[in-house]
Amino acid sequence: MEGFDTVISGADVVDGTGAPRRRADIGIRDDRIAALGDLSTARAGARIDATGRCVAPGFIDAHTHDDNIVFATPDMAMKVSQGVTTVVAGNCGVSLAPLRLDGPPPPPLDLIGDRADYRFARFADYMSALDAAPPATNVVAMVGHSTLRAGEMDRFDRAATPAEVEGMKRRLDEGLAAGAIGLSTGLFYPPARHAPTEEVIELARVAARHGTLYATHMRDEGERVVEAIRESMRIGREAGLPVILSHHKVAGIANHGRTVETLALIDEARRSQPLGFDVYPYVAASTVLSAERVRVSSKTLVTWSRSVDGVSGRDLAEIAREWGVSPEEAVGRLLPAGAVYFLMDEADVQRILRHPEAMIGSDGLPHDAHPHPRLWGSFPRVLGHYSRELALFPLEEAVRRMTGLTAARFGLRDRGEVRPGAFADLVVIDPSSIVDRASFEAPKKPAAGVETVVVNGRVVWRDGAPTGARPGRALRRGQLDAPMRDWRAAA
Ligand code: ZN
Ligand code: CU
Repeated sequence: MEGFDTVISGADVVDGTGAPRRRADIGIRDDRIAALGDLSTARAGARIDATGRCVAPGFIDAHTHDDNIVFATPDMAMKVSQGVTTVVAGNCGVSLAPLRLDGPPPPPLDLIGDRADYRFARFADYMSALDAAPPATNVVAMVGHSTLRAGEMDRFDRAATPAEVEGMKRRLDEGLAAGAIGLSTGLFYPPARHAPTEEVIELARVAARHGTLYATHMRDEGERVVEAIRESMRIGREAGLPVILSHHKVAGIANHGRTVETLALIDEARRSQPLGFDVYPYVAASTVLSAERVRVSSKTLVTWSRSVDGVSGRDLAEIAREWGVSPEEAVGRLLPAGAVYFLMDEADVQRILRHPEAMIGSDGLPHDAHPHPRLWGSFPRVLGHYSRELALFPLEEAVRRMTGLTAARFGLRDRGEVRPGAFADLVVIDPSSIVDRASFEAPKKPAAGVETVVVNGRVVWRDGAPTGARPGRALRRGQLDAPMRDWRAAA
C-alpha cells in the first residue's frame, strides 16, 4: 500500500449520512480521503491518534454572514473551533458583492462591513480576492437581493422599475456565472420590504437558469409567517428552483407554538416542490436594532452601537431606565446598532431542530462587538446540548444535519461525507464532552470537545487554537453539483 500524508487512527467514523458509527482509520492523501479501514501498518507522514473519539465530516455552516470576515479574520477561529470547514455566505439578501458604495451601507448591509468593504463591482472580483487570500474554511456564496437593490436604486421605499430590474438581473447573472450558488433575499428588511413578489420571481428565474437555488429571510416570521412561507413557495414554483427558508423560526410571544402549523405547511409543500430550511439552536435572534423587534421580545441585549460607546452586551431596558427614556427613545439614540432579541419559544426551537429536513446554520454575526453566542456555539450546542443531553436525536443524525444533508441541498460535490474520494474536510470530536461554552454574557468562548479540524487535508485547528493554515477554497457553482432536486429522498 502506498503511504498517506496523514492517518487519523482509532476513531469511530460518523460518516455524515446518518449511518451508525463504525471503527475505521482514515488515510488522507493530498486534499482527499484516500482510504478507510485498518491502516495501523500503513506508512503515514503524520498520525493523529483519535482513540476513543469520533471523526465526522467537517461541518457545513448553512447560514452565515461571513462574506467579509473571511478577509478580516482568515483563521476563522469562531467557526473552525466548532468543527466548521465550509461556510455558506451571502444570506438574508446581504452579500458583499457585487457592490461598490459611495456612502455608508444601509442597514442591514452594515452588519457585514463599512463602505470601504463594499469594494467589489463584480462578483468575480470577490471570488478572485478569496483565491488570492484564502481563509481557513471553504466558502460558497450567494448573491443578495438587497445588495443588488443597493447597486441599482436610489431609494428602497418602492418597487424597482423595469430598468432597475434589468440592471439587477445583469448583476445577478454575472455573479452566478462567476460561481455564486444562488440568490438570497431579506424581504423583512427595509431595503427589500417594498419589493413585490414579482420582482423576486424575475430575479429567481435568473438563478434557476443557472441551476442554483433561492434562500430567503422571509417577509414575516411573526404573525404572518404562514403567508410568508406561501410567498416563498410561490417564488420557488414560478421561477422553478429549490427554496431554503433561512433560520426558520416563529418570532414574537403571541406566536409561540405555531411551528406546528409552519412545519405542517413545509411538509405539505415538500410533496410538490423542493423546499428546505436551516435553523440555529437558540431562543434568541440577532440582527440590527429596531423598535419593532424590541416590542415583540421579552428581553433585548445591545450587540453594538455606532452612536453610543460602552453599551455592547447591555440590556436595552436597563439602558433606557438609566437614561430616563422609553425603550423606543433609547433605540433612536443607539442607532445604527445591533441587538439580540429573546423572542422564540424553546418548544418551537426543538420542534424545528427535530424535523429531518433541518440543516444547522449559525447565522452568526462575526463583526458584532458582543455577538450572539450562536457565532461560536451553534454546532457544539446541537451535538452536546440537544443531541447528548436532551436526546433530541442520536449523534449520527445531528452530524447528518450539519454535513451530508447540507452538502446535498447546496450541491457541494464530494463534501459532507467521510468516504474514499471525498475531500478531507474532517473534525475529531470527543462525543462525551463536546458542548458550546459561548453564552449571552461571554459570547466569544470556543467550544469544548472539538480536538482537531482538517480542511482540504490540512490541519487548521488543534489543541484549542488555530494552526495558521489557510487551505480553504472559494467553491464555484461550476465545479459543484446541482442542488438536489428531489428533496423528499432524505426525509
Ligand atoms: Zn436573516
Ligand atoms: Cu442571516
